[in-house]
Amino acid sequence: MEIARSVVNTLLAPNRVCLCALDEKDTVIGLVGGLPDYDGVVWELHPLVIKKTHRGHGLGRRLVKALEKEASLRGALTMILGADDLTGSTSLSNVDLFDNTGGRIANIVCRERHSYEFYLKCGYSIIGVIPNANGIGKPDILMGKSIAKKQRRGRAPLTTLEGGKS
Ligand SMILES: CC(C)(COP(=O)(O)OP(=O)(O)OC[C@H]1O[C@@H](n2cnc3c(N)ncnc32)[C@H](O)[C@@H]1OP(=O)(O)O)[C@@H](O)C(=O)NCCC(=O)NCCS
Repeated sequence: MEIARSVVNTLLAPNRVCLCALDEKDTVIGLVGGLPDYDGVVWELHPLVIKKTHRGHGLGRRLVKALEKEASLRGALTMILGADDLTGSTSLSNVDLFDNTGGRIANIVCRERHSYEFYLKCGYSIIGVIPNANGIGKPDILMGKSIAKKQRRGRAPLTTLEGGKS
């Protein structure tokens, strides 16, 4: 609980974002945090948690979307996150990730349910891996998604070769 409190406190600092899902009694049943990096162009999603009794009803996906929208409004282009594999749930655990890193990522296999699959469903891709992030053979799986606002496909102003507008 102490660690949880300190994580939430860090999210309440200026420029950071903490979004909660509430039940009908205004009790928090889910929480997502966002932290700007790279001058606010890249945001990190951390943490994300849904109360056990409320999982599997789309709340996690909705919170991820809400954070993406908020960060995008603040100028973010990319959302990143780390999905630790502490339990040997994926083929990226217990192997030498310095050997054939890209190949191992491309051919990842999920042995047990793991949150990286949830993020795949939210539109994220695996963009890297941090070997031994949590001890030997326990990597952090880095994921990312473009949240850049789409350019409107209106007609661009015509410009003549001389540079004047026509
Ligand atoms: C991961 C977590 C946030 C998902 O929240 P949720 O509200 O249960 O997820 P949703 O109902 O929005 O699920 C969206 C999709 O992801 C899938 N999914 C959800 N959790 C998953 C998991 N752990 N592994 C694989 N797939 C998962 C769902 O089956 C659903 O798939 P569908 O669209 O094909 O039906 C929640 O399980 C949780 O709080 N886990 C503990 C904390 C945690 O692991 N946080 C992430 C750390 S990086």
